[in-house]
Amino acid sequence: MAPVCRGPAWEGPGEPERRQYARPVTQDESTDRPDPIETAGFETRAIHAGYEPDAATGAVIPPIYATSTYRQDGVGGLRGGYEYSRSANPTRTALEGNLAALEGGVRAFAFASGLAAEDTLVRSTCAPGDHVVLPDDAYGGTYRLFAQVEQAWGVEHTSAPVADVDRVRAAIRPGQTKLVWLETPTNPLLNVGDIEALAAVAHEAGALLVVDNTFASPYLQQPLALGADVVVHSTTKYAGGHSDVVGGALVVRDAELADRVAFHQNAIGAVAGPFDAWLVLRGLKTLAVRMERHCDNAERVVEFLTSHAGVEQVIYPGLAEHPGHAVASRQMRRYGGMVSFRVTGGEERALAVCERARVFTLGESLGGVESLIEHPGRMTHASVAGTDLEVPSDLVRLSVGIETADDLVADLDRALG
Ligand SMILES: Cc1ncc(COP(=O)(O)O)c(C=O)c1O
Repeated sequence: MAPVCRGPAWEGPGEPERRQYARPVTQDESTDRPDPIETAGFETRAIHAGYEPDAATGAVIPPIYATSTYRQDGVGGLRGGYEYSRSANPTRTALEGNLAALEGGVRAFAFASGLAAEDTLVRSTCAPGDHVVLPDDAYGGTYRLFAQVEQAWGVEHTSAPVADVDRVRAAIRPGQTKLVWLETPTNPLLNVGDIEALAAVAHEAGALLVVDNTFASPYLQQPLALGADVVVHSTTKYAGGHSDVVGGALVVRDAELADRVAFHQNAIGAVAGPFDAWLVLRGLKTLAVRMERHCDNAERVVEFLTSHAGVEQVIYPGLAEHPGHAVASRQMRRYGGMVSFRVTGGEERALAVCERARVFTLGESLGGVESLIEHPGRMTHASVAGTDLEVPSDLVRLSVGIETADDLVADLDRALG
């Protein structure tokens, strides 16, 4: 059975049109029996949720529905809820059902990129004059979106450290703050925010807690179960997992917010195409095993770096001395595949280490099976240079892949000289 679609539209202010938006059905509607996949373990949901073998062919994997439009059963009679692929496409519906099942949300939405997902969320929840609290070390692209795009639209922001609940509370403007935005762990400094505590702070002020779960992935961390209202993903990263697709997602806890996001997803149109949705869905099937190996390898790399004389500081939430270690231990299954470190010898040496690595590929992005190395100050976070969010110039960031651990350690040994 291909994914079935139904769902009410959100009627925004001044929006008279009523449309049906696609959404996966996770129950066999011919009986009252709940779908056993809904209550299954993470790995089972990752492989099965969102799609059942195609009724016509038995295809176990969802086809890539490369179609923009759908033959209708009559005027106004949509075929399973599909009319036009910006509004819904069955491959995207399968991915959205899978993501909702993995994050424990009522509904998920797939976008063309993580930033497209973020922008759609802001348009769905804020209006000009509203305010958002951001991490003071947010991903550079997220900061740029707020500083240069949302601000011009009239949405203001204040930055606060995610690890300091009191400073986040102090940054809230009662009545005006609509979103408290959390990354945990943050990119690239791997600071940890307490999701449960920050959800309480946001809710006290009538705001929503948004958690960018890109670094942890739903396998390591479940923000909605800890009180968050929305999860954001750059599915480009661990969800896709193979560095072959750019995508984003939102997963929401509440049906009313889901309808608002559904409306904006269609109205703005920054959706994931069917091939991209298919790639992310394929990646998610192996998320659990990949994350375990990312974590194993990251721990080996951390062990090596902490004993190297050319390394000034290793930043990893799994280290007992990391200030967010206790919180990370409470809210994460393991500590992830991202490791940052500061070298002795300043920026010049950090750049040299990045350039000398061979198994670690010099490149932006993260979360793929291959290990990557980068200099955040000059690469991913160049857009925050000269602002309060500027990152140290001697910082190197690793996305530890799933290669042979000994090869990764030997490569870093060589690169550190
Ligand atoms: C934590 C985090 N959030 C969001 C994004 C933006 O995602 P995308 O590049 O898919 O637009 C990134 C990209 O690196 C990221 O690292």
